[in-house]
Amino acid sequence: MSASADPSFSSIRYLPTNEAYDRWAVVYDTDGNFLQALDTIELKTLFPEFLQSIKSPKSWRIMDLGCGTGRNTMLLLTIPDIEEVVALDSSKGMLEVARSRLQQADDDAGSPSTEQARATPKLHLEVFDMLASPSPPASAQNADAVISTLVIEHVPLSTFFSQVSQILKPGGVLLLTNMHAHMGGISQAGFVDAETGEKIRPTSYAHSVADVVAEAAKYGLIVEQTGAGAGIYERAVDEDMVEKLGPRSRKWVGVTCWFGGLFRKRANE
Ligand SMILES: C[S@@+](CC[C@H](N)C(=O)[O-])C[C@H]1O[C@@H](n2cnc3c(N)ncnc32)[C@H](O)[C@@H]1O
Repeated sequence: MSASADPSFSSIRYLPTNEAYDRWAVVYDTDGNFLQALDTIELKTLFPEFLQSIKSPKSWRIMDLGCGTGRNTMLLLTIPDIEEVVALDSSKGMLEVARSRLQQADDDAGSPSTEQARATPKLHLEVFDMLASPSPPASAQNADAVISTLVIEHVPLSTFFSQVSQILKPGGVLLLTNMHAHMGGISQAGFVDAETGEKIRPTSYAHSVADVVAEAAKYGLIVEQTGAGAGIYERAVDEDMVEKLGPRSRKWVGVTCWFGGLFRKRANE
């Protein structure tokens, strides 16, 4: 199959990131974006490594910075060692989808009618634009750990790591994933607005792994060697993955599309 697996569009329209995501929210979870599917597969390895790497005493406070529709916030809500989850995003539209999805999951888990009702972490969602404010909100400070998946494509690295280093306790851990620069050099995030037929694109940057690692270090965030000792994982799409990732991934076979890893904040930062 060729690029025709992507929905067709009449024209491309660049919108401010928050406005683009407010519109994308309606179909973000259902429009067959293969990078999310790849991220979900890779988190099966990276997320357990992340949990194991958190050294501070339980129970933990964990932030999801740029939580979107709560796709990965959901993972945090299943972990008994977590006391509080704070989910932040600059798009009200994305956060509204997250609110209903996460509230539903929370209700299901705690419902007396559920056979194995279990306590879930306290959940706080808040609109927060890391470009508009130099510091994180009070609700997101002194965290044991942060996850941020597929977000840094939209922000300068210095902005992002400055926020994360203010959010984390010394010794705290960041789980970071993003579109790889090999893909970002050719493409960027976007969706086809069913109402207008336009391809909508937010602001995007193609950050290389080397730039990410170097900028993180300036803010005292050092790559954590994971259980596998791999440092930063980089993933290309291969032929065997197309069935799982969906038809839109086929044109990316052979291209490195995703990277992810863990960073620890130096104890003295
Ligand atoms: C591709 S989505 C990823 C959402 C979610 N983390 C996931 O993995 O599905 C990128 C998210 O980053 C958010 N974002 C972009 N710029 C931001 C900013 N300046 N401050 C906070 N969130 C931002 C967007 O609103 C959007 O929800």
